[in-house]
Amino acid sequence: MHAVLVREPGDVDVLEWGEAPDPTPGPGEVLIDVAATAVNRADLLQRQGFYPPPPGTSDILGLECSGSVAALGDGVTDWSVGDPVCALLSGGGYAERVAVPAGQCMPLPDGVDVVTAAALPEVACTVWSNVVQNARLTAGESFLVHGGSSGIGTMAIQVAKALGAGPVLCTVGTAEKARACTDLGADVAINYNDDDFVARAKDATDGRGVDVLLDIIGAKYLAANVDALAPDGRLVVIGLQGGARADIDLGVLMRSRATVAAATLRGRPVEQKAAICRAVVDDLWPLVAGRRVRPIVHTSMPMTEARDAHRLVADSGHIGKVLLTRP
Ligand SMILES: NC(=O)c1ccc[n+]([C@@H]2O[C@H](COP(=O)([O-])OP(=O)(O)OC[C@H]3O[C@@H](n4cnc5c(N)ncnc54)[C@H](OP(=O)(O)O)[C@@H]3O)[C@@H](O)[C@H]2O)c1
Repeated sequence: MHAVLVREPGDVDVLEWGEAPDPTPGPGEVLIDVAATAVNRADLLQRQGFYPPPPGTSDILGLECSGSVAALGDGVTDWSVGDPVCALLSGGGYAERVAVPAGQCMPLPDGVDVVTAAALPEVACTVWSNVVQNARLTAGESFLVHGGSSGIGTMAIQVAKALGAGPVLCTVGTAEKARACTDLGADVAINYNDDDFVARAKDATDGRGVDVLLDIIGAKYLAANVDALAPDGRLVVIGLQGGARADIDLGVLMRSRATVAAATLRGRPVEQKAAICRAVVDDLWPLVAGRRVRPIVHTSMPMTEARDAHRLVADSGHIGKVLLTRP
């Protein structure tokens, strides 16, 4: 098969469309004929050599894909050859074919075409597992997500609104991104270049702070994130764009009974990923089918143009997801 290969760790020029061994599905796995994949910020780190794939997984980039089932490994009974699917991957999506544990395959939500479905698995599973399952965001609670226009942010805003949370706040770096986020349903979009998000979060919540905060920045925002929480608030850190090491004032946490959690999806055991995918199919896909949550696709380009796609995401020139289609 053909795949986007990383010649050696480095900048976008190390990406090359070339030949790779065909994957074969092991027991409990499904082989997918890939229609499309999507660029995640983690792919940029992996390309640079900073985010190696978990042991035993493909070293080809790509944490999600859509396509159709091409073959079944031993013991797989819940999928048939030809079924349209999208899938959460540990790697291997930037290719014509990929093998994945059957539990990480999901049917396409009603009304979503097979290429667009590649925009969903990573953000759907990340937002559902962290915001709903971990932080237990419920109707009437306030919510803030950093990077509202990111792939993660565009999904988190819509999920929070669909659950009846409010006010829903986000941070962004430009006025155009602020407009995109309010169009998606955010009640308040805070430009972090002009405004203090803690003060704005307090203003929007009568001084209480937010009940749930989904953070992609890490160390640089930790103290401010804790300050922005309401009593019994829950902060979930899923990205470290602002570093991994920071001090935390446990006294502040104790007084507000706040929780700070952190998680990655990629390294979770297969059984946990399968459980997350089941919850997404049961509880989030109906919201997508009902058009209350939409996949937000900034642009789509062939896999052979992966260099341009990585440049776009590195420069944060996108709103939502950047798709790579099979040429
Ligand atoms: N833990 C997990 O399992 C998991 C899974 C998926 C993603 N993630 C993480 O989630 C983040 C988003 O992923 P993605 O693929 O959706 O990335 P993405 O679309 O490239 O988004 C990155 C975002 O970071 C924002 N940003 C940069 N500096 C900021 C700041 N100082 N304050 C607020 N926002 C800032 C950018 O917004 P502006 O352009 O407006 O600055 C951009 O929207 C990444 O950090 C990724 O590693 C984690």
